[in-house]
Amino acid sequence: MKDQVVIAGAGIIGLALAFELQERGERVKILMPEDEAGTATLTAAGMLAPVSEADVEHLHLVPLALDSLTRYPDFVARVQAASGRPCGYRSEGTLWVALHRDHRAELEHLLTFMDHRGLSAERLDARSLRRLEPGLSPRAVGGYRIPADHQVDPRALRLALLEALDRRGAELESGCRAVGLELRAGALAGLRVAYGERREVLPCTRVVLANGAWLGHDFDGALPDCGVRPVRGQVLRLAGPVLLQHVIRTPDVYLVPRADGRLIVGASSEERGFDGRNSAGATHDLLRHAIAAVPEIAELELEEISVGFRPATRDHLPVIGATAIRGLFLCGGHFRNGVLLAPASAALLADAIHLERTDAALAPFSPRRFEIQACPNRN
Ligand code: GLY
Repeated sequence: MKDQVVIAGAGIIGLALAFELQERGERVKILMPEDEAGTATLTAAGMLAPVSEADVEHLHLVPLALDSLTRYPDFVARVQAASGRPCGYRSEGTLWVALHRDHRAELEHLLTFMDHRGLSAERLDARSLRRLEPGLSPRAVGGYRIPADHQVDPRALRLALLEALDRRGAELESGCRAVGLELRAGALAGLRVAYGERREVLPCTRVVLANGAWLGHDFDGALPDCGVRPVRGQVLRLAGPVLLQHVIRTPDVYLVPRADGRLIVGASSEERGFDGRNSAGATHDLLRHAIAAVPEIAELELEEISVGFRPATRDHLPVIGATAIRGLFLCGGHFRNGVLLAPASAALLADAIHLERTDAALAPFSPRRFEIQACPNRN
């Protein structure tokens, strides 16, 4: 029998991978950190937005993102069936809204980019926008609708994945983190694991590091130098009556409505290392932009300010695949798109591990692109 696959990290990326590996008949063990504060999954709003978040500088990401979006309904259906829990998947689409001339110019630029890439958006005047979302500010001057950009509730999806994995017999070990490798003749022979101050070696021959912004951090082992760093995002959770049906975006803020009346408002983007404190300034900016777009937001209750660390690699593309060390894989660096990219990353990497054959779709994301200048890890 094949050795189990050990996955370090229990965000959506690690859990989705574990789920897909189980679907292929593999046994999995998941190492969950002692402290989940700052985990991107717990902060993320859950926009599934390959079109809205299409990145002019990272064109390789668009096909993977579209592939992942296509996989979402089936992925969610399988997770829901295996767990008996809802995942908050919604397909009403996204409205981009311009509140003034500068916004309109910015949105025109984005629209041109999307047109060139064959990504579809439907232009709307102010009246049509407000017909779709009567709560929008009368200042809205126009915008467009992106039917293909959907949403999921990352916290609900994570709980459903944990339940599904547990029901199928995954080993879930909490309060520990991967801190190093044991090698034998260039191949993986074990993982060094820290339980608080205590260290142990877990014998294993297949490991995936999927620990978000902490990938390579305080890790003793020759990983490719992907330079993963945390990009802090502050997100607000508001509660009250349902104000919106669609995800609303302006160039300054995004608003993601949940069916229970919660409204997620995001997000700041800050280079502050692992500083997990929130700031009055970011909260002020998010609320100001949110209320400018939908005035009734001023009446909602501010329930939570959450702070998460987006995992960004040096080139801002994810690392998904095998390393030079036999048996060691990375799945991380998903930056602004972790929730969206989870189904495709998980399915493609699960195939690569299970079948020992990597799909060409993963070529742009190989961790080995960082091996040209092999450097020791950052600590
Ligand atoms: N994908 C949304 C964000 O990173 O804020």
